[in-house]
Amino acid sequence: MRLLFAPMHGVTLAHYRNLHAKHFGGVDEYYAPFIVTTEKRQIGQILFDDVRPSNNDQGLNITPQLLSNNGEDFKVYANIIAEMGYKTMNWNIGCPFPRVTRKVRGAGLLQYPELIKKFMETAFDDTYDINVKMRLGYEDLDEGLEVMKVLNQYPISGVTIHGRTGLQKYEGQVDLDAFDLLYDYCKHDVTYNGDIYTVEDYERFSKRYPNIKNFMIGRGALRNPFIFSQIKGQIRTDTEMLSAFKAFHDDYFEVYKNRSDIERVVLGKIKDFWTYTYTMIDPDKTFITDIRKAQDIQTYTYRVEKMFDVIRPNFK
Ligand SMILES: Cc1cc2nc3c(=O)[nH]c(=O)nc-3n(C[C@H](O)[C@H](O)[C@H](O)COP(=O)(O)O)c2cc1C
Repeated sequence: MRLLFAPMHGVTLAHYRNLHAKHFGGVDEYYAPFIVTTEKRQIGQILFDDVRPSNNDQGLNITPQLLSNNGEDFKVYANIIAEMGYKTMNWNIGCPFPRVTRKVRGAGLLQYPELIKKFMETAFDDTYDINVKMRLGYEDLDEGLEVMKVLNQYPISGVTIHGRTGLQKYEGQVDLDAFDLLYDYCKHDVTYNGDIYTVEDYERFSKRYPNIKNFMIGRGALRNPFIFSQIKGQIRTDTEMLSAFKAFHDDYFEVYKNRSDIERVVLGKIKDFWTYTYTMIDPDKTFITDIRKAQDIQTYTYRVEKMFDVIRPNFK
């Protein structure tokens, strides 16, 4: 079994991944959030900072991701990244957000198998492999099956399938019956993705798909960053977990304090951090509402310390 941390734009950036590996561990491969390709050939190098090896701790296994609807553009960007030492590029055809799909990118491409084919005809190069991250379809499974028919004809190195359509975004449940059909039809190695929030969820999905080796976890890992090591059977006491979580928070906060002198900016970033994490630490929002209202770093720090002194979270 291999456990993959899903790419999450604006969240699982290099410093997050480094700190996750340092404090929680258990991840076999981190997928970096998407980099958007354009037709410009004078490409600002800052775009690649997140995957630049100097920003990523050694020993982390990282797969960069490109959001692109043009194989030529993909090739240019992928070659820049390959020169940094990466061997595999992930192609994102699953992002469901309207500002992306409107431009026929991400899941917006799933309605156009002919564009997927055109992309595949031009995107490959000897310097890297391509794997794909997709959904069941944009509107329905028939679209996903048409896309898979195309993908089956090309030497990609794997497909991650998220069991919702683009229109569904993250609503409702994953549609496992539809996932089964797409999985059966796929000739490539499939990675399972969707709604793994607990060790029990992982066990249920891995039992249902005994031949799937790779499981990718996103939101479940933001809520419970220990999930990977827990799935692998690592046991820590509640106290150890709480102090690891606190250490992660403090290091993460430090990154933003070092990056900006503007208090409002630093506070904005650290408050964002709690968006996905509070459910585990403070499910009843006893502290988090006040923490989020803090207008200066001193007040924020005081309220966070106070919370950590009294909470007894259940990391499960
Ligand atoms: C805030 C957020 C940002 C995301 N950014 C990306 C991204 O950059 N690339 C991508 O392929 N998927 C992205 N996703 C989708 C996740 O990688 C993952 O497929 C999705 O959350 C479903 O997995 P889960 O049920 O384990 O969370 C994002 C999801 C969220 C909630």
